[in-house]
Amino acid sequence: MTTRTVYLETFGCQMNELDSELVAGALKALGYRFVPEPDHADVVLYNTCSVRDHAEQKVRSRLGEVRDRKMREPHVVVGVLGCMAERDGEDLIRRMPVVDVLCGPGELDKLPALLDNAVRTREAILADDAPPPPGLRGLSASAREIALQGGASRRSGTLAAAQDNLELLDLSRSVSPTDHRGTAYVRITRGCNKFCTYCVVPHTRGAEVHRPPDHIVEECRRLADAGVIEVTLLGQTVNHYRFEHGAAVTIGGLVQPQKGRSYAGGHRRDPFAGEAVTTFADLLRRIHDEVPEIRRLRFVTSYPRDFGDDVLEVIRDHPRICRYLHVPAQSGSDRMLERMNRGYTVGEYLEFLDRARAYLHQPEIGRPLTLAGDMIAGFCGETEEDHRASVALLERARYKNAFIFKYSPRPGTTAFDRLIDDVPDEVKRRRNNELLAAQSRISEEVSREMLGSTLEVMVEGFSERQRKRSESAAAGVVGLTVGGRSAVEPERPESGSVQMTGRTEGDLIVHFDVDRSESKQMVGSIVLMRVDGVSGLSLFGSMIDVDSPARVVREH
Ligand code: 5AD
Ligand code: SF4
Repeated sequence: MTTRTVYLETFGCQMNELDSELVAGALKALGYRFVPEPDHADVVLYNTCSVRDHAEQKVRSRLGEVRDRKMREPHVVVGVLGCMAERDGEDLIRRMPVVDVLCGPGELDKLPALLDNAVRTREAILADDAPPPPGLRGLSASAREIALQGGASRRSGTLAAAQDNLELLDLSRSVSPTDHRGTAYVRITRGCNKFCTYCVVPHTRGAEVHRPPDHIVEECRRLADAGVIEVTLLGQTVNHYRFEHGAAVTIGGLVQPQKGRSYAGGHRRDPFAGEAVTTFADLLRRIHDEVPEIRRLRFVTSYPRDFGDDVLEVIRDHPRICRYLHVPAQSGSDRMLERMNRGYTVGEYLEFLDRARAYLHQPEIGRPLTLAGDMIAGFCGETEEDHRASVALLERARYKNAFIFKYSPRPGTTAFDRLIDDVPDEVKRRRNNELLAAQSRISEEVSREMLGSTLEVMVEGFSERQRKRSESAAAGVVGLTVGGRSAVEPERPESGSVQMTGRTEGDLIVHFDVDRSESKQMVGSIVLMRVDGVSGLSLFGSMIDVDSPARVVREH
């Protein structure tokens, strides 16, 4: 059998990136070979995002391009994975007959079988049709026969009693020392129960379920054994994590993920904490203590209301947990927050930020707390006053960065069905730009506050500037990358300094010069750096110490 080639493009959030990694691992194990361009791939897959219309439009335009190719090369199999497959379902196939396979985020474990089926069916259709049909007739026939929808939305409501096959996808993750960049995502919860009125995620990713803690720790251990030193735990509302061992269900020898109890909100500690429960704080502590090779442990995205002091204490008391929180506010107006069904007021949100800062902001020991947020501009009914309140919230929160987007009505959400999208697009755009401008000034100020401080920096590779400089140099292979940056620079005979880039635990970018001879072995290490310059959002540092003792010491 000839090897089938696959092109996979990912849109959207970190959860999608992880899904793509897992799917790619499963397909590689079955002999598929991944290629970097779609043009000659036998299978073209898009892992899609439905959070905003813009993300969906991009996929639609990709599908238009691949449609042209499929007219000429009808053997090509096209798959839409992820949230669009779940949200649009068969409607997508009706409108876009180029699509052969649909697979929602809750059904990705089935993708290898779906794909195999699709490839074989296409071959059979093409063999049957004489002469071979290079046109639309072949396309629509294939779509109808092959399409299978995810259909998993909120199916997971009964997961405690049903086998969760998706867990097998996470568990089968292939980890090798060469296919990661020193850093990795690990899923701890899937889905979301919040039903913010604007958001499609609870409809596409289903109910919130929590993975068994042993599975998570074991995955971290395997990643660490393969050389990963930075792990980001993922969940839509990551701090909701809780696993009740007394209620655990085992099927076929495998402990199943568990639907968590709903939170009453506003708790200062997980009220279920105890011997029989692994709380989010417990989980962080376990990973920190049991896998000390992970030198940076982060988590995203946090839900602001349900953030206990127990979690803040664990972060404060465990040196390898990063003092970085991504806690979206979405709006600075109570009226809007209520319409969004966010479940907290601006006052409560700011009280949380103050509490987090009181626990975690310690610039005097080189460990400032940095915050990131999300804001939506022009939600239904938003007035100028509401908008000004959002700008004021940015001023008060002082995020290091914020993801700011115009409200995009999403079919299937409560806001789409029950609220009027009454802010004209040009007003949305203006408000969005005002929020962006305020945030960019604040981001620069936050960077400036770091001037003169001494921070730990994880070295990721050569800086963009260095890479460009080196591109014209002698041919060489860019082999290793860390955090997306090349770690191996084309060989150049002369000595001298090179510019490298790393990140602080608060996710700030730092550039620094080192001697070329020392540069390679620094990648993936943590160095102590004094910040002596700032330009825009980037810091410039000079090295004080090659390996910072705080994280190097193995405690076990
Ligand atoms: N329109 C605009 N932004 C949205 N987000 C979620 N849904 C929408 C929408 N319909 C944003 C929120 C969320 C982030 C992932 O995307 O800010 O935190
Ligand atoms: Fe969407 Fe709200 Fe859930 Fe976040 S918490 S994924 S915004 S519904």
